[in-house]
Amino acid sequence: MEIAPLPPNETDRLKALDSYKILDTAAEKGFDDLTALAAYICGTPIALVSLVDANRQWFKSRFGIEATETPKELAFCAHAILQPDEPLIITNALEDERFVDNPLVISGPNIRFYAGTPLVTADGFALGTLCAIDTIPRNLSPEQIEALRRLGRQVLSQMELRINLVNLENNIIQRQQVEEDLRRSNQNLAHTLQKLKYTQAKLIHGEKMSSLGQLVAGIAHEINNPINFIYGNLNHVGDNIQDLLELVHLYRQNYPEPDSDIKEKSEAIDFPFLAEDLSKILSSMKVGTNRIRQIVLSLRNFSRLDEAEKKSVDIHTGIDSALLILQHRLEAKGLHSGIQVIKQYGNLPLVDCFPGHLNQVFMNILLNAIDALEDSLINKSDLKIRIRTVYSRSGYVVVRIADNGLGIPESIRKRIFDPFFTTKPIGKGTGLGLSISYQIVVNKHGGVLKYLSKLGKGTEFWIEIPCEKETKAPTSLPTLLI
Ligand SMILES: Nc1ncnc2c1ncn2[C@@H]1O[C@H](COP(=O)(O)OP(=O)(O)OP(=O)(O)O)[C@@H](O)[C@H]1O
Ligand SMILES: [Mg+2]
Repeated sequence: MEIAPLPPNETDRLKALDSYKILDTAAEKGFDDLTALAAYICGTPIALVSLVDANRQWFKSRFGIEATETPKELAFCAHAILQPDEPLIITNALEDERFVDNPLVISGPNIRFYAGTPLVTADGFALGTLCAIDTIPRNLSPEQIEALRRLGRQVLSQMELRINLVNLENNIIQRQQVEEDLRRSNQNLAHTLQKLKYTQAKLIHGEKMSSLGQLVAGIAHEINNPINFIYGNLNHVGDNIQDLLELVHLYRQNYPEPDSDIKEKSEAIDFPFLAEDLSKILSSMKVGTNRIRQIVLSLRNFSRLDEAEKKSVDIHTGIDSALLILQHRLEAKGLHSGIQVIKQYGNLPLVDCFPGHLNQVFMNILLNAIDALEDSLINKSDLKIRIRTVYSRSGYVVVRIADNGLGIPESIRKRIFDPFFTTKPIGKGTGLGLSISYQIVVNKHGGVLKYLSKLGKGTEFWIEIPCEKETKAPTSLPTLLI
């Protein structure tokens, strides 16, 4: 037996074969049809598409034989590829010294006849053959040989088609992957943009609140000194006036008949009334200045926005400060005859919280309530906000702020805590009030912020802040709405 020498371009030939990505793939009908056709045309019981690999011949398609490969040394095809331009025809293997003692000849499948047309690429590499095999010696007519050659070219076209298809599929997969990556990064981008918008708006809102806080703190500070000065001196003024009045009284006792011009002046100014009114004016001035002092105190209280640390505070002070700041919106105006605020404050312990931020929550919810009441004006005249506070022994302080406005329509209930969700006209609402309040109550304080709304009846917001301390407060929470 003669082992076929390696073709001169073997390394490149193997690379070319490899590039078709066909070795060890499953059977395919396109190839099987061509092998069957080759067997039929040549009238042989066996036909193969054999690819000559480094150490074996591997059959992409086989007709009339079970084996899937043989060692390269035994391969007739290894000889056939040495002459790429013409088919190798062995009419009787027993008469050819290259094959006479080949195990495939002397034992199964007992090859006698072999006709193999090389599968040659455009670059001139013979990758294998399309071959027809018989167990008896025979020959092929020139037409049969020509038909075999043409079929061989079809096998190569099939291989080209196949690799193009594989590449196309890979391209499509890659493209789909790229599209998927693109979709994902688009999604991420949209998400980041949304987050950025939210953070930006939160910053603006925070900045707005903090500059409001600073403004309020500044005004409170400026008013504080002069008002204390006035308040402190009112007592002295009172004492001095009292002394002067007593002096006048003494004069009157000692000089019951004053000169006519003194008498005239005394009548003109209605001295008895003046003496009585002066003390009344003084006491109302005291009430007034006292009220201003309280307002200043509330303003300072509200402006505790920048306090970064938790503090134990009286929640009611925060609510009252927010109400005070909103006073102008509660008072009667052209639109309505005033919003009545009903306070039902329970007995609360001091609450460990971020007071400035909680004040912001009260402010947002009260503002929403006022807006809702103003919107409901066509239907209602008795506008009310009811604020109830209660301590629950399970360790919560609950603040409930209810309005008797139009309520929240079912269709938007799921969205009112979403950032930027607003039903208010452009420029009036940013849609951030509730989302920020939610963050403050739930994330910052570990509390609960929820609401209950009845269309046409009103809305009640429920703020729960955890609070450990025990108190004598009632445990049951009465049911909702004004
Ligand atoms: N008490 C309420 N009654 C009726 N609707 C309300 C009430 N509170 C909130 N809403 C609805 O929830 C929406 C969102 O409220 P949110 O406070 O988050 O934003 P906004 O008030 O519209 O704007 P912003 O508070 O930023 O100025 C409101 O636009 C409104 O439709
Ligand atoms: Mg709001």
